[in-house]
Amino acid sequence: MRTPLVAANWKMHGTKAFADQLLAALAEGLASDECSTSVVICPPFPYLTQVAEAGSSRLQLGAQNLSEHASGAFTGEVSAEMLQDCGVRYVIVGHSERRSLYGESSALVADKFAAAKGAGLIPILCVGESLEERESGKTLDVVAEQIAAVSQLNLADTWHNAVVAYEPVWAIGTGKTATPEQAQEVHRFIREQLGDKGASVQILYGGSVKSANAAELFAQADIDGALVGGASLKAEEFVSICRAAG
Ligand code: G3H
Repeated sequence: MRTPLVAANWKMHGTKAFADQLLAALAEGLASDECSTSVVICPPFPYLTQVAEAGSSRLQLGAQNLSEHASGAFTGEVSAEMLQDCGVRYVIVGHSERRSLYGESSALVADKFAAAKGAGLIPILCVGESLEERESGKTLDVVAEQIAAVSQLNLADTWHNAVVAYEPVWAIGTGKTATPEQAQEVHRFIREQLGDKGASVQILYGGSVKSANAAELFAQADIDGALVGGASLKAEEFVSICRAAG
């Protein structure tokens, strides 16, 4: 049985004051809640400690990125150990914005995944196809390549304590969500690609998830929760999504 998981990716949004307000509203909205969903908040780096110190037992801490290196002369980078040290438990790797805007290849993303695992963090590996790739029938090939880059590292227990997020690039921030059936097809395929451990890995859907479409997505057999961008900045919306998950 997989525990439902909903992760908030704040991306590069917010201020200290905004974070305080949002965290207080989430703590209140989720405290009175009987839902069993695990909730992870991934703020920008400067606000990690603020989220950790907000101290709600309902909120776990995640980061949006990390370095593939352990330490050294890498200006502007943040290591897995530093994240650990700040109380981070989860870290997003290979978000499509990192792949497309910062040129992160599947090989680099795999190295980041390994760095996260090596420090005891739980990577949330993002995979997904562009609109052009979907329209040319390449969705499953693209996703298989992104997963294989990680599997090929042959880490001990690669998919234990790891999460996968399927985020079709064409659905991110566009208001266009994959239909539940489209998402389920890819989620089932991803689970098959994960091998023996596949049945126990949480696979999240991401791409314009909101309270109005969350329940029908979560009703699919292989969708275990969501990675939420825009709607995670609105307390009421985000709490409703968490409730819909479980
Ligand atoms: O990490 C989250 C995804 O990029 C989805 O973002 O919910 O704003 O479409 P969105």
